[in-house]
Formats: sequence, C-alpha cells, structure tokens
Amino acid sequence: MSKNMKMSGQRPGPGPGPGHGPGRNTGPVQKPKASKETIKRLLKYIAKDKMMLIIVFFCVIFSSATAILGSYLLRPIVNNLATDLSAVSALVKDSADYKACLATGIANLIKGLLVMAGVYLLSVVLTYTQARIMIGVSQRALYTLRRDLYNKIQILPIRFFDERTTGEVMSRFTNDVDAIGEMLNNTITQLISGAITIIGTVIIMFYTNWLLAIITILFVPLMLKAGGTIAGKSRKFYSAQQAAIGALNGYIEETVTGQKVVKVFCHEDKVTEEFSELNDNLRNKQIKAQFFGGIMGPVMGNLGQINYAVIGGIGAILCIVKKVIAIGPLKIVLGGFDIGGVTVFVNYSRQFSRPINEVAMQINTIFSALAGAERVFQVMDMEPEEADRPDAVNMDDIEVKGKVVFENVTFGYNPDKIVLKDLSLYAKPGQKIAFVGSTGAGKTTITNLLNRFYDINKGKITIDDRDIKDYKRDSLRRNIAMVLQDTHLFTGTIRENIRYGRLDATDEEVEEAAKIASAHSFIMRLEDGYDTMIEGDGDNLSQGQRQLLNIARAAISKAPILVLDEATSSVDTRTEKHIEHGMDRIMKNRTTFVIAHRLSTVRNVNAIMVLENGQIIERGTHEDLLAQKGRYHMLYTGMLELD
Ligand SMILES: Nc1ncnc2c1ncn2[C@@H]1O[C@H](COP(=O)(O)OP(=O)(O)O)[C@@H](O)[C@H]1O
Ligand SMILES: [Mg+2]
Repeated sequence: MSKNMKMSGQRPGPGPGPGHGPGRNTGPVQKPKASKETIKRLLKYIAKDKMMLIIVFFCVIFSSATAILGSYLLRPIVNNLATDLSAVSALVKDSADYKACLATGIANLIKGLLVMAGVYLLSVVLTYTQARIMIGVSQRALYTLRRDLYNKIQILPIRFFDERTTGEVMSRFTNDVDAIGEMLNNTITQLISGAITIIGTVIIMFYTNWLLAIITILFVPLMLKAGGTIAGKSRKFYSAQQAAIGALNGYIEETVTGQKVVKVFCHEDKVTEEFSELNDNLRNKQIKAQFFGGIMGPVMGNLGQINYAVIGGIGAILCIVKKVIAIGPLKIVLGGFDIGGVTVFVNYSRQFSRPINEVAMQINTIFSALAGAERVFQVMDMEPEEADRPDAVNMDDIEVKGKVVFENVTFGYNPDKIVLKDLSLYAKPGQKIAFVGSTGAGKTTITNLLNRFYDINKGKITIDDRDIKDYKRDSLRRNIAMVLQDTHLFTGTIRENIRYGRLDATDEEVEEAAKIASAHSFIMRLEDGYDTMIEGDGDNLSQGQRQLLNIARAAISKAPILVLDEATSSVDTRTEKHIEHGMDRIMKNRTTFVIAHRLSTVRNVNAIMVLENGQIIERGTHEDLLAQKGRYHMLYTGMLELD
C-alpha cells in the first residue's frame, strides 16, 4: 500500500495518503485487559437515567418473579387434574355423580388455567415495559457516547488524523458504537432478569424437591467451566475482530475516495490483492470469534438437555417409590413426589439453565461491545491539543499587526526525523514572503507550525513579539487565513462554503470575495449561481474551481495573516494572472506567506526563501537572488527543474 500510494504525490495531497497500509491495525491482538474499567465507564453512560433504571429494575424483578410463579401454578393444576380424573373414572359413566364430578374437574382446570394466564399476562406486560424503557435509556446513552466521541475528536491534534485513515476513525462511530448499542439494548436487562430467575428458581426448586434441586445445581459448575473456557477464547478473538473491521473499513474508505488515483495508476489488481489480504484477515478473525461465540449456546444447551433428562427420570422414580431412610435421629424422606411436582420441576430445571444459556449466547454481543467500547474510550483518553496557558491572550481582543518571526525553529513530525532545521525568518507587518523549493522541502510544514497544527520541538515562533503559545489557540487560527494545499468543500451551497471563512459575512461580502478570487464569473455561469449545491467535496467542480472557492473563503476572512499554500497550482496561467490581481488585494495590509510552484507568481514579494531539506538556503528579493546566481537563479532560468 504505502509503496504504490506514495506515487500519488506529496502529502497531504488529494486521494489516499501514504503510510496507511494494511497491518497497521492488525498487529498483536490487544486483549480487553481493562474490561472492568470499560464496563464501569459504560455503566456511567446509562447511570444518568437512574429513575428509569430503577423502574426497569423493578419491572425485571416482577416479571421474572411472575414468570417463576406462573410455572409453579401448573403443579396444583396437574395434581388436581390427576385426582379429579381418577375420581371420575371410579364413578359409573353417565351417572349424575359422574357428571357433577366431571363438571367440577373441568371448572377447576379452567379456573387454574385462567389464574395462570393472568399471572403470565402480567409478566408479559412487565417485560414489554422494561424493554421499552431500556431501549430509551440505551439510545440516550449512545447519543451521549457519540456526542462525547465527536466532541473529543474536534479537540484532538491534527496528528491524530494524520496518523489514521478516515475509515478507521469512522469505524469508531459506526461499528464500535453499534456494538455497544446492541449490548445496552438487551444484555443488561437479560443479565438482571437472569440473575433473578436463577435465584428465584433455586429457592422454588428446593421448596419443590430438595434432591432434584441438588442434582440440578450440581450441573452448574460443569456449565460454568465449559462457558468460562469458551468465553476466554472468544473475548480475545472479538477484540481482534473489531480491530480487523477497523482496518478493512479504513482501507475501503481510502481506496474508494482515491478511486481515480487507483485507476490512473492501474492499481486495481494491487488494491484488490491488498483488500483480499485484509478481507482474509477479517474472515479469519471473524471465523474464530463467531465460532467460539456461536458454540457457546449449543454447548450449554446440550448440558441443559442432559440435566433435563436426568431430572425427568429421577423425578418419575421419586413419584413411584417412597422410602424413609433413618440416619440416627434424622429421617430423610425419599420419593412420595407428585406428578404435578415433576412437571413443574422439569420446567424449572429448564428455566434455571436458560439464563446461563442466554447470557452465554450473548457473549458475542458482550465482547464485541466491550472491544468496541475500549476502542471508543481509547480515543476519548487521547491527549487533546495542549490546553491554552491560563494567561493566554485572545488575539481578537488586541490589534494584530502581523509581525511574524521564526527563531531557530527545529521540528520533526517524529522526534527522530527532523524536517525543519534551525530555521529563522522575519516578516514585517504587511510583508509578503514566498517559499519556494522542491516537494518535501518543508514548505507546508512551516505553515502547519504557524497555526499550531503541530508544536515545534526547539526554538520560538512569535506574532507581534509574543510567542504563539501565549495566544489562545482558536483566536490564533482565526487570525490566520489559510488556503490549504488540499482543498476541502463541505456539502452545502457555494455561498455557504465561501462564508465558512467568516460566518457573519453578508451576501455582498461573499460576492465581493468571489470577485477578488476570480471565482465570480464561473459561479455565475452555474445554473444556480451562488446557490449551487456542492456535493461530495466538490466533485461537480474542477480542481481549479475548487481552489478559487478556497481562495474566496480566505479572502472573506479579515485575518491579518494570510497563508496561501500552492493556492493556484491547479488553475491555468490565464486565470492565475486574473487572480494575481485579486491576490494583491487580498494580500494588502496582511502579512502573507505564499507557497508557489510557479516562480513567476512570486516575483513581486518582499522576500523569497528557497527551502531545501528543511533549511533556507537562499533568501532575498527576486533581483537579489537572480544576482546571486545560486539555486534560485538556476530554478528561474530553467537550468534546474523544481521537483
Ligand atoms: N503529517 C506528517 N507526518 C510525518 N511526516 C510528514 C507529515 N507531513 C509531512 N511530512 C514530511 O515532512 C517533510 C516536509 O513535507 P511538507 O512540508 O509537506 O513539504 P512541502 O515543501 O512539499 O510542502 C516531507 O519529508 C514529508 O514527508
Ligand atoms: Mg506542501
């Protein structure tokens, strides 16, 4: 990936960026080590709805209790039916007694069934209520979670985005949050109702028949052991699965957005191959995760069936025999059990293993959710952009003149790879400074430092003699208008996109800015003019037109400092001439840094800096530099090509 994509040009260029190959997220699987922490944090999100949770809690208790009670009602019904039937069969058929006895029997049965139905109905209503409330609670929690995540992402440094694919970041909002939602919707109530059902069933089982109760409970350690073993394995694979999904999404996003680049370089085969690799990885991880998640239910179910059979058999024997075993003074009564008792007991042994079963089957959901939550919290725990100093100055409150000084600035995106070395420069208010130099020389990096996308390692950058770290960061950015090298337009009208540069700009100001940027005439040629909708990052416009809109966006801003990073690289020379005129107006009274590819456009600036490998190797006016007969001279006269 990184190999082929580097060909697509310098970063941050349009299309896929380098360095985000497969495998970045597929390294060693991180186990959800801090599951407890993660669960605690998740619970905090639903804990805000305390009242609702209390109601849910009571609903769960009562619905579970009524379900248990409902089953118990079967015992007298079956027993009565048995006695009634034997009474009836003892009488002479069609005699008056027979009819009366039959009628009482049927009446008893109906009465019993009606009571039972009533109890079950109550249970159903409670379950419904609890589910309804819980969905509300969990959706609110998800809402908050998404909000917190999004807010967090807004304060993360640019580094966070530079180091990740968009798809990977997106995946935290989609897959990971979805996984959490899945769990919150059902699992919590199921856990509570499971616990209550287990406790209630144990009590009622001992009440019904202690021997059978003990036999049933003896199965528990077996189930727990089996469940625990499978769960341990599946948790590991679920983390791996979520990570693999993130990596695959990242790759898809990257290659879909960069589809044109892929096609231009005929990388379809390569991309397909790399996709298969990631897809394969996801499949492998998913097979393992789903397998261990999936066999949980059946394994537990089978253990339950064995228990069921054993209980049925022993229960039947206990109905037939009755034996009193005397151990000293202690008399243990075995047998003498009733048929109604066996019926309900068999039910209970089922009900008893059901919650264990259910929770076991939810293990998928739980582990996906925990893995997802961990990835979400991981982002939330990231270092945000360094906080403003407490005494930081708000640039909006002072009159910024626009004196910019770099003093021995050293910087590297990674500490071990220095990009700018000991760089110094000085711009008086209103001056125009141009940077020229080959791709990768560090021109864009300088502008990244000026608006504090990245903070420098050594040295000092000042604006109006004050360290830029002493300004409030957002006020600093408001006071530097930028035309970034990679243009970006948002979904909305052209007017809205230009106004992005200053939200309180009037329609007239928007048009004025567009005129300055030479965008007005092409906008007017569009069917809807300024109200033309921009879709998908401006795919319905040419690259040059997009650049013009970006320039207009900067033109509308009143910032005293202006940065133009290859702002006109994609427009034709004729339009560029047009813009140049407008540019002079934009630059007027603003300290301007121009990065330009075509040297002809920077002739009139106050100073030109020739950058090479992160150092300024020549500086001076156009005439000075030509006279020096150095690198600039060679570049300008075409003896040396840029790039
Ligand atoms: N976000 C980043 N992370 C790591 N290295 C980067 C990043 N952006 C740029 N670089 C590296 O810094 C150097 C200077 O890049 P840049 O300032 O963009 O050059 P240019 O002069 O073409 O604008 C290049 O070697 C580039 O690979
Ligand atoms: Mg650049």
